[in-house]
Amino acid sequence: MVDKGVLELYNKRMSVKDELLKKLLDGELVSGAELSAQLSVSRNAVWKAVQELEKAGYEIASGGGGYKLTGGNVLSEAALSRYLTSSFSIDVEYETDSTNNIAKGYAEQGKTAIVVSDGQRKGRGRLGREFFAPHGTGAYFSVVLRPVLSLERAQLLTAYAAVVAAKAVERLSGGEVKIKWVNDLFMGGKKICGILTEASVGIEGSTLDYAVVGIGINVYKTELPDHLRGVATSIEAETGVKIDRNELIALIANGLAEAEGAISNGKFMNDYRIMSNIIHREVLVNGEYSAFVRGIEDDGAILLESSGAIKKMNGGEVSLKLK
Ligand code: BTN
Repeated sequence: MVDKGVLELYNKRMSVKDELLKKLLDGELVSGAELSAQLSVSRNAVWKAVQELEKAGYEIASGGGGYKLTGGNVLSEAALSRYLTSSFSIDVEYETDSTNNIAKGYAEQGKTAIVVSDGQRKGRGRLGREFFAPHGTGAYFSVVLRPVLSLERAQLLTAYAAVVAAKAVERLSGGEVKIKWVNDLFMGGKKICGILTEASVGIEGSTLDYAVVGIGINVYKTELPDHLRGVATSIEAETGVKIDRNELIALIANGLAEAEGAISNGKFMNDYRIMSNIIHREVLVNGEYSAFVRGIEDDGAILLESSGAIKKMNGGEVSLKLK
């Protein structure tokens, strides 16, 4: 269970639980006495933090002068590599501002990388929004891709990532996932995942240099801030299944590695439409007016009918709310 207001906590000081988790993830044997002295908290507070982590799924052994992580939902390079079938440089962090920022650094160095973080201080969403990314509960990661695609085709990367991620979640959890155009995944009528793709264009301006596909998935149950209650959910909350975050991330990265071929032939758009929860529904457009969704085109654009006229719009210019 993640502390309420956890984001504010990071701005001031990490909680005892997060300090402890950071040390445990580094593979350290953590002495309760030392940690309580370092943080000026009681031994009982340290013990409470151990219990909170165990409740959140971490397996912690005590004895030999301290606590040691023995298993549970721990993100690690070793566990990811077990499931990865394509070659990526792997960077697993305990905490970042945003994995997209770190991934861009690798991209600029010419690398094809996957950056995973247990939590993010400033997770970024579409349209300048913040993405809630507390520790120990989600899969927050960014994948650097270098598919050879025209800029027009490259715009389909987010839609492709949505199909790949939706199928991976369905495969591991057994639950049904819906895609809300353009970049959100839903379970049980609420959001479980958002995708933020950022691209760099080649010097001549007509092809993609690299793309960073950033994906945030709510995997385990957690306490949500007020503005997300009733709007967001997690895979565990909807299916009761606690999937392995490493396997989920690797499955999606494996799918993303196929982006060039899949986007070039375009067949995945049929799956996108089948999984859509928005086609033939009424929506609120940019919080301003109602429209009926006629369909989603092969180029990823949406057809909105309003006041007798049909408009074609793309993901960068519109935000839709299901009615
Ligand atoms: C959205 O819902 O608008 C998109 C959210 C994307 C969140 C992911 S989490 C990993 C990566 N790093 C970020 O800062 N954002 C993306």
